[in-house]
Amino acid sequence: MQEALNQFGGFWTQHKIEIFIKYLFAYLEIMKNQRFKLIYFDGFAGCGRIEPENSGIEENKFIESVALQVLGMEHPKLFDIYYVVDKHKKRSSALNALVKKKFPDLNAHVVRDDCNIRLIGMTDYMRQNDQYRALAFIDPFGMNLKWSSIEICRNLGIDMWILIPTGVAVNRLLMRKQERIPESWLGKLEEFYGLPIVELRSYFYREEERLTLFGSETHVQKIENAIHKAVELYKQRLGTVWKYVSTPFPMKNSAGSTMYHFVIATNYASGFGIANDIIGKKLSQG
Ligand SMILES: C[S@@+](CC[C@H](N)C(=O)[O-])C[C@H]1O[C@@H](n2cnc3c(N)ncnc32)[C@H](O)[C@@H]1O
Repeated sequence: MQEALNQFGGFWTQHKIEIFIKYLFAYLEIMKNQRFKLIYFDGFAGCGRIEPENSGIEENKFIESVALQVLGMEHPKLFDIYYVVDKHKKRSSALNALVKKKFPDLNAHVVRDDCNIRLIGMTDYMRQNDQYRALAFIDPFGMNLKWSSIEICRNLGIDMWILIPTGVAVNRLLMRKQERIPESWLGKLEEFYGLPIVELRSYFYREEERLTLFGSETHVQKIENAIHKAVELYKQRLGTVWKYVSTPFPMKNSAGSTMYHFVIATNYASGFGIANDIIGKKLSQG
């Protein structure tokens, strides 16, 4: 069981949870007076507990996974369906046991599978049942969410919070010398952004002419501030599917390096305003 635990990433994990839970509360407050049925979708749900690690948080005191926190929220309103996915066998069975024990009366489904596959299931279901709206929490470690899984959310009432691995993954794949990037990494970037590699190359790299004794040479340089450009591009891409994309919240480690960006995509102006307000306040706290 021990190796199945999700490690606490650092204080940025706490920021992410706080932002999401604040939004969740505001979302349910709005939805309690609406006629819609509600789905909570957690695509990378973990095992139910997050292990604190050098985090300043009391030793041996586990933090509840977001999925459990959502399941435990009775007010302003319950969701009609909780759909909680994790690909890892031990994690999903540990979570399933906790959910069954703590929330036997809720319509909660803990599923061991790939989030990308289950998103297809949820979006198909929502297309056939238009009374449903969904709040999705997409919290992967790396580039596990495929662009094709995002595209299928078009024109549906899904508010999706996404953790974008700009620093921990995208920037690391974009090597300084682009000719050294392995084929498999290029494929990963294509699958992640849903863009052909030629477009990604021209976005993240610049050609530079340098004079030498015997004429000029072309050098290909990775752009400055690639992490910032990585989130800008992802935001742009999300904007082709949803009407609104919030200000990305940068999640930095204790050394000040950006690891992830946390963002919401929504078709509701109110959700967009609320999310930007929550993120703006968090940013101003430093
Ligand atoms: C950052 S952790 C999630 C933490 C969780 N949200 C919480 O609040 O504790 C990422 C999780 O995604 C799972 N995972 C990795 N790839 C996956 C995939 N393709 N589909 C679903 N789950 C996946 C891992 O097993 C891991 O538990």
